[in-house]
Amino acid sequence: MNRRKFLKIVGSSGVIVAASSAGIGAFVFTRTPKSALLPWEQAGSQYSDPMRKALSYAILAPNPHNRQPWVVDLISSNEAVLTCDLQRLLPDTDPFSRQITIGLGCFLELFALAASHNGHRSQITLFPKGEPGEQLNDKPIAHLKLIKDSQLKPDPLFVHALNRRTNRNPYDMGRSITQNQLSEIIRVAGSNVSAGGVVQGKQLQDLRDLTRDALRDEILDPQAFRESVDLMRIGRAEIEANPDGISLGGAFLETLSLVGVLNRKELADPSSSAFQVGLDMVDDQALTSMGFVWINTQGNGRRDQIAAGRNYLRVALRVTSLGLAMQPMSQALQEYAAMQIYYKKIHSMLTGGGEERVQMLARLGYAETISPSPRWALITRIGA
Ligand SMILES: Cc1cc2nc3c(=O)[nH]c(=O)nc-3n(C[C@H](O)[C@H](O)[C@H](O)COP(=O)(O)O)c2cc1C
Repeated sequence: MNRRKFLKIVGSSGVIVAASSAGIGAFVFTRTPKSALLPWEQAGSQYSDPMRKALSYAILAPNPHNRQPWVVDLISSNEAVLTCDLQRLLPDTDPFSRQITIGLGCFLELFALAASHNGHRSQITLFPKGEPGEQLNDKPIAHLKLIKDSQLKPDPLFVHALNRRTNRNPYDMGRSITQNQLSEIIRVAGSNVSAGGVVQGKQLQDLRDLTRDALRDEILDPQAFRESVDLMRIGRAEIEANPDGISLGGAFLETLSLVGVLNRKELADPSSSAFQVGLDMVDDQALTSMGFVWINTQGNGRRDQIAAGRNYLRVALRVTSLGLAMQPMSQALQEYAAMQIYYKKIHSMLTGGGEERVQMLARLGYAETISPSPRWALITRIGA
């Protein structure tokens, strides 16, 4: 959140935040949602069996609105079945669960990288009981098997898994991304997708404008924005109770929430200052993009979406390794009515036409680092 602008609101509502008062340090300290962040600290160390060890990393995968739609049924210490939790879909902004499926692809890639780091080859059989059509169902997304392999070379991308973040801060407009860096990023994507990017020129500016307009229109679409607002977790108690969704945490935002400036009602009300700040933030995000990277697939089947997710995770880890920040900007790729105009524009800009589909689009740049986002503990994601 934009601190400067929020201070303006706080000022205009007559509330004084004593940011410099004694005791603020202690307050800051107590606002950290410790248990919601434990999965990041405990990854790889809580379990000795290869399956749960790899899964403890997989749950840290990026996924839309941090819904964490994964459920894993363990069969043995090296075999499991992944399904999608159908209560965790995003029906308004992701009506065909394309993005949810991409998130499951990110999960599978991180699972495979973690397993390889632990000397296991992963055999991932997608949709063993049939591929879902327009809507996801309760049939398995994948059957997972781990096979010990002493010849296996661990994938070096894995070492960046715990540092990867979705960084929504404004990016530093004084620091460009080089063409070489972009090539390094794109190079990690496999041949089952086509990855592209831009770091300068007219196309960069066009994408900044387009992502800004699409984001603004999503916020101005009451139904779509309501879905996001309902998933906002404001302050430590809410984040700890539901370590998913969109977390608005930290001492500063929590103080605003305590004084009544920041709450779901205000955030959803177009006449409120909080709503206006939300719109301004969107400009700060989109217009400070110093590059974009995208991942396209030739079709839009479920396997394409999984492939897009697997490759997005690889790209995100490479971005992390270069000390760069990244944030998906998905609005223009979404299928609901208000996005149609952007959907068409982005596809004519970034694809060769036909059935080719832009599955992921993310902005790049240098930014202040941020804390990891909350996660449900692995134990809560294990089914039968
Ligand atoms: C398919 C997909 C779409 C996403 N779209 C957006 C987006 O439009 N805006 C955004 O800020 N983050 C987006 N994200 C990032 C998620 O919100 C993020 O991964 C999640 O909140 C967990 O945070 P983390 O990536 O820092 O672990 C997307 C992630 C995925 C996998």
